[in-house]
Amino acid sequence: KTLDDMGEIQGKRVLVREDLNVPMAEGRVTDDTRLRATVATVGELADKGAIVLVLAHFGRPKGKPSPDFSLSQVVKPYSKVLGREVWYIDWEGAEDTVATLEPGDIAVLENTRFFGGEETNDAAVVARFASLGDLYVNDAFSAAHRAHASTEGLAHVLPAFAGRAMEAELDALQKALGAPEHPVAAVVGGAKVSSKLDVLRHLVTRVDHLIIGGGMANTFLAARGVDVGKSLCEHELASTCEQIMEAADKANCTVHLPYDVVVAKQFKPNPATRTVNVHEVAADEMILDLGPAAVESLGDVLKNCRTLVWNGPLGAFETPPFDTATVALARTAAALTEGGSLVSVAGGGDTVAALNQAGVAAAFTFVSTAGGAFLEWMEGKDLPGVAALTR
Ligand code: 3PG
Repeated sequence: KTLDDMGEIQGKRVLVREDLNVPMAEGRVTDDTRLRATVATVGELADKGAIVLVLAHFGRPKGKPSPDFSLSQVVKPYSKVLGREVWYIDWEGAEDTVATLEPGDIAVLENTRFFGGEETNDAAVVARFASLGDLYVNDAFSAAHRAHASTEGLAHVLPAFAGRAMEAELDALQKALGAPEHPVAAVVGGAKVSSKLDVLRHLVTRVDHLIIGGGMANTFLAARGVDVGKSLCEHELASTCEQIMEAADKANCTVHLPYDVVVAKQFKPNPATRTVNVHEVAADEMILDLGPAAVESLGDVLKNCRTLVWNGPLGAFETPPFDTATVALARTAAALTEGGSLVSVAGGGDTVAALNQAGVAAAFTFVSTAGGAFLEWMEGKDLPGVAALTR
C-alpha cells in the first residue's frame, strides 16, 4: 500500500519513518542526498493536510541520549532542503507538543535510538511511538534492513504504507534483480571479499556477468594462482573464491577478473605507476586500479547487457589516479543508459560517491540511498522493514 491508498488524511497525525542519518562535519551536512529523498513523501503528506511527524535515527547512540546524536542539529538543514518550516520535538513531553501541531505542519521527533528499545523492537517503545500517530508511512529503504521499533514494529500496530522514496527504491530494485531484462551484469567492487561473500554467492545465481573489481579482485586473482605482490588480498579466502567461481560456472554466469592493472609501490596520491598484465606485478608493487584494456572489454560486456547493478568501486578511487577505471566504466554505463539500451541501478555509500565523482549519478536509471540495506538486498535477503509493509 502506498500514499495513494491512505484515504482522507486531512488533520490526521502521520508518523513517517525517514532516514535522516546524513554525514556531518563541523555542524554542516556534507551530503544531503538522503534529506532530498524525503521531500516527495513529506511534502505530499503536508500538502494533503496531515500533521507530519518524522521519525528517524541519527548515528548509533545505543540508547543513550547525547547532544552529538541529537537530530536537532539536522532540523535547520532539513528545513532548507524541504523549503518549509520544520519543528523539532524532544522526547520529553512529546505528546503535549504534538498536540499543539496543526494540519500541514511538519515536525522531526528526536533520535529514535535514544530509546534502547528502538533497536530491540521493544513493544513498549513501539506503543510509545504509535501513541503519537494515527497512520504510519515507511519511506526509509536504507534503514529497512533493521527490524527496529520505528522501521518494523510500527507497521504491525498502525495502518502502514510505503512512502514515495520507498516505492521508487523497490521499483528500481525489482527491475534490476527481481524481474530484470537479460543479459544482466553486476559490478561488485570494494576492498574486501569477506564483506561481500553472500552478495557474490547470491549474484552468481541471478546475473549473466559478474564483474569483480577493487581489492576483491586481487583475492580472486590470487586464488587463480596470480602473484599479486603487496596488493590488499585476503589469501585465506582462496578456496571460497574457487567455490564462488565454480558456482558461477554451473549457473552460466561469466566471472570477469582484470587482466591488466595499474600498480604502484606506494599508496598515496599520484605516485609513479605502471600498467601491467596481472602476471607482471612485482613483489614490491600493489594493484590499485584496473587497466585500460580491462575497462574497454568490460565496456563491451555492458554494451551487450540490458541491465546493470553496481556496488563498489573498481579501484582505490578516493586516491588519484586510481579512480580512472571506475570513472571510465561509470561513464560507459551512463551513456548506454541515456541511449536507452541499459537499465542501471547502483547503491552503497562508496559507489554513490564514485558516481558523483564521475559526474554520472544523474544519468543512471536509479541510485539507491542505501548502504547496508542495498547490500542485504543484493544478498537476496528479505528486509524486515519491507516485509512488514507487505504483510
Ligand atoms: C545507513 O546509514 O546505512 C542507515 O541509516 C542505517 O544505519 P545503521 O547501519 O546504523 O543501522
